[in-house]
Amino acid sequence: SSNQMWGGRFAAGPDAIMEAINASIGFDKRMAAQDIAGSRAHAAMLAAQGIVTPSDADAMREGLLTVLSEIETGQFAFSTALEDIHMNVEARLKEVIGEPAGRLHTGRSRNDQVATDFRLWVRDQLDAAASGLEALMRALLAQAEAGADWVMPGFTHLQTAQPVTWGHHMMAYVEMFARDLSRVQDARRRMNECPLGAAALAGTSFPIDREMTAKALGFDRPMANSLDAVSDRDFALEFLSVASISAMHLSRMAEELVIWSSAQFRFVTLSDRFSTGSSIMPQKKNPDAAELIRAKIGRIFGANVALMTVMKGLPLAYSKDMQEDKEQVFDAADNWMLALAAMEGMVKDMTANTSVLESAASAGFSTATDLADWLVRTLDLPFREAHHVTGSLVAMAEKKGCDLPDLSLGDMQSVHAAITADVFEVLGVHNSVASRTSYGGTAPVRVREQIARWKEALA
Ligand code: ARG
Repeated sequence: SSNQMWGGRFAAGPDAIMEAINASIGFDKRMAAQDIAGSRAHAAMLAAQGIVTPSDADAMREGLLTVLSEIETGQFAFSTALEDIHMNVEARLKEVIGEPAGRLHTGRSRNDQVATDFRLWVRDQLDAAASGLEALMRALLAQAEAGADWVMPGFTHLQTAQPVTWGHHMMAYVEMFARDLSRVQDARRRMNECPLGAAALAGTSFPIDREMTAKALGFDRPMANSLDAVSDRDFALEFLSVASISAMHLSRMAEELVIWSSAQFRFVTLSDRFSTGSSIMPQKKNPDAAELIRAKIGRIFGANVALMTVMKGLPLAYSKDMQEDKEQVFDAADNWMLALAAMEGMVKDMTANTSVLESAASAGFSTATDLADWLVRTLDLPFREAHHVTGSLVAMAEKKGCDLPDLSLGDMQSVHAAITADVFEVLGVHNSVASRTSYGGTAPVRVREQIARWKEALA
């Protein structure tokens, strides 16, 4: 049989394969609530403008709520023959309210309808991501506050570099996720314009009020160009770009947790609640959540590349290619939210092994820079010479199989005669971190300022 929406033009119905490649209802039913909100706003506007009667609009608006509750309670029978969520809802509305349902699509097309629905959906996800990022930042802040004074090794090239504080390390992640949050807010501000009323591509001859529908749906304004309104998917691409960068941050942090929780590092103990065991090796406690978070960037960035590729060759205005936008965004959104929540849970639950962190902090000649700085400050050596003297002392310690503080004053003086006993004070890791008081540095006093600043910002 031919289609009930456009059957007038068609003698035959679609081939089964045509239906299979064409239908989007299998996934776009996730936008049912947004579709119905858009249609209810449109119906109210049609009545306000005298395009339909108030009683028809009331019937539409009531009927749409009935359809929504059928969907929400799982009583709705979705039909592939009806292609997508838009036609499924409209067809059911017709069954519920009869003739007035046929007036709902006046001055509107599925092209502006889907763009509106999808924007509403993405906007909700940006808000969810903002909450998820804030929750994760709070968990990191709590860790930073507990361990503002704990020392640990700081790395470059994953080789011991200089001692840092646990709080400083946690706050580095707060800064990263704060940038993600700010990108989310930017994207939301830019995307919050309403395509509804662009109709198929050219606008409509009906006297619609686009300001009214835009406002009713929480948009800042209607989109200014109807061709652009139905063909733009920048908002989805920005969502995927922001998600990709954030997933990259999550992945880096997850990698650190994998390393830190290994038996070789033992910097942290992950909670049982966020670990798994092995079916064969009884001793195992694996950081699977961290590993999966580390992996999520693959599908999220994949979605970004996929949609960029879909969009790159499309002429104005709408093309059916754009139906491929949703699954990418849905999958990326689901996995980004999951990764944020899992990271928050892991951070909340993890225990820093402070004694392991402290002994690791002093290993690897981590205070060699402090020694060189002391030579500059106390003996007025040029930094390059101080670097050389310290290098010789490190080589000596390495040969003796000890750390820098284990060298005797005599050892020190054999390399540079003017060295005095108070050099040993700067070789301790606590003195080392306490001395790094430059803005943004690792000194507990500086880290506490940053913690206070972010706590206030997130309050
Ligand atoms: N299911 C379509 C999509 O997701 C809705 C818009 C269809 N418009 C059209 N002219 N066929 O993009």
